[in-house]
Amino acid sequence: MIRRILTYPDPELKKKSAPVTVITDATRELVHDMAETMYDAPGVGLAAPQIGVHQRIVVIDVSGKDEAPELIVAINPVIVHADGESYEEEGCLSVPKYAANVRRHAEVVVKALNLEGEECTYRADDLLAIAFQHEIDHLDGTLFVDHLSPLKKSMFRKRYQRTLEELQESGR
Ligand code: NI
Repeated sequence: MIRRILTYPDPELKKKSAPVTVITDATRELVHDMAETMYDAPGVGLAAPQIGVHQRIVVIDVSGKDEAPELIVAINPVIVHADGESYEEEGCLSVPKYAANVRRHAEVVVKALNLEGEECTYRADDLLAIAFQHEIDHLDGTLFVDHLSPLKKSMFRKRYQRTLEELQESGR
């Protein structure tokens, strides 16, 4: 089922998510819905709090347009190592019609459980490294716009206010 994606400044997006203690049918259904919602949007990543569920679960798929889908389901993901610097443009399904460059690590090693409850290690660079950092941020109530400088953030707020008004007018 495609779920509604919450948008900034919804206070639900600022809450910290809790670790998953046991993987149940409800978890599997949630992950299924998250993937469906992400592909429908379309986006390259989605965190559970973006659909109002405060559990530490993210889904990511950074495969290209002409490649086979490669869904990563990361439960209780933790960055165990980070290296290098990147400054790439990011967007977010919860912040429509806005993109900005964000400082991130260029490479990360992430440990997480998969849906079978097995511990997986991901050595990520490029887009996948950014996606992991962006999505794990969501689990702590942080959005990519929270990384902007105060000046850029105030510019973002003004511009985004217009976006919200436009979306409201178009009835979304
Ligand atoms: Ni996001």
